[in-house]
Parts: sequence; C-alpha cells; structure tokens
Amino acid sequence: MIVKSIDHLNSIAIDIGKKLITPSNILLFGEIGVGKTSFTRFLINFLQKKNKLKLTEVLSPTFNLLYEYEIKSYKAMHYDLYRLKSKEEIKQLGILNDNFESLKIIEWPELIKEDIKDRLEIYFSYGKKENQRNLIFAGYGKFKNFKQNEI
Ligand SMILES: Nc1ncnc2c1ncn2[C@@H]1O[C@H](COP(=O)(O)OP(=O)(O)OP(=O)(O)O)[C@@H](O)[C@H]1O
Ligand SMILES: [Mg+2]
Repeated sequence: MIVKSIDHLNSIAIDIGKKLITPSNILLFGEIGVGKTSFTRFLINFLQKKNKLKLTEVLSPTFNLLYEYEIKSYKAMHYDLYRLKSKEEIKQLGILNDNFESLKIIEWPELIKEDIKDRLEIYFSYGKKENQRNLIFAGYGKFKNFKQNEI
C-alpha cells in the first residue's frame, strides 16, 4: 500500500491500533529513516489516547534498545535491535520470553523474526516522492488472516 504522507501513516497506525488485541507482536522492517519509529509513535500515542492516558514522547530506542509504555492493563514494549549482532545478545533482552500482557513492537527484527510465531510483519520502503512510503504486510500465526485491504 502507498503511504502518501506522514499524516497518512498516522491514520494507518490508528487503524491498526483499533484492531490490536494484546498480546501482539509487530515487526517493522526497512531502511534507516523510512518511518519505523514514526509509525510506533503514532501507534503508542493512539493507544494512550484511547485509554485516556497522557500522551508521552515516543523516542527511538536505538541506544537503550527498549522503551516501555504503560497502557493500563498491559505494556507496550518498543525495541530497536539495530545494534545487536547476534541472536544470543537479543535473547538476553528477554524479547523471546512469552509475555501474555504485552504489545511488542520491534524495529530491525531480522535475526529473530522466525522465533516469534504470532507476528504481524510490516515492510517499509521509500516511495517515488519525498514523503511517500510503501508498506507491505505479512501476518503469521494468529495474524495469518490479517488483511491489508481492511486497513
Ligand atoms: N510518509 C512518511 N512515513 C514515515 N516517515 C516519513 C514520511 N514522510 C516523511 N517522513 C519522515 O521520515 C523520517 C522517518 O524517521 P524514523 O525515525 O521514523 O525512521 P526509522 O525507520 O525508525 O529509522 P531507524 O532505522 O534509524 O530507526 C521522519 O523524519 C519522518 O518525519
Ligand atoms: Mg527507528
């Protein structure tokens, strides 16, 4: 699907947020600067708003590896695995532990994607125009029937 602008990305993130049931795993693929953190910010801010929470900053966890957000009954955990070079390092974060009360959003998930059975993968790429992006969705496990055209 073509994302026409950053505002359009916001509305896509909201539509996905409306459909999410925890626990969920969203894996975000794509080059540096393509929009993975922006998408996450829109999604987390939507979930905060929906739960009448104060909106917070949602910054890139490039150096911290993980930022967590309390969304009432569950946690949103935003990972950025860019700097990690082995599966072992990633496992130490506990990212593969079953966590029945969390929404995990993972940037740069290439090394571990297959270890996460239930996952919605979103592939970002640059579009023809400056603020355009392309998104491709692929669902596995309980997300198998996720339909891009329903967004
Ligand atoms: N349609 C769009 N979708 C997403 N981002 C856009 C769009 N148009 C412009 N942008 C801009 O592109 C940048 C995307 O940066 P962002 O940090 O979200 O990328 P990222 O994929 O998380 O990068 P990294 O791999 O470094 O973590 C932002 O400055 C955002 O404003
Ligand atoms: Mg990012």
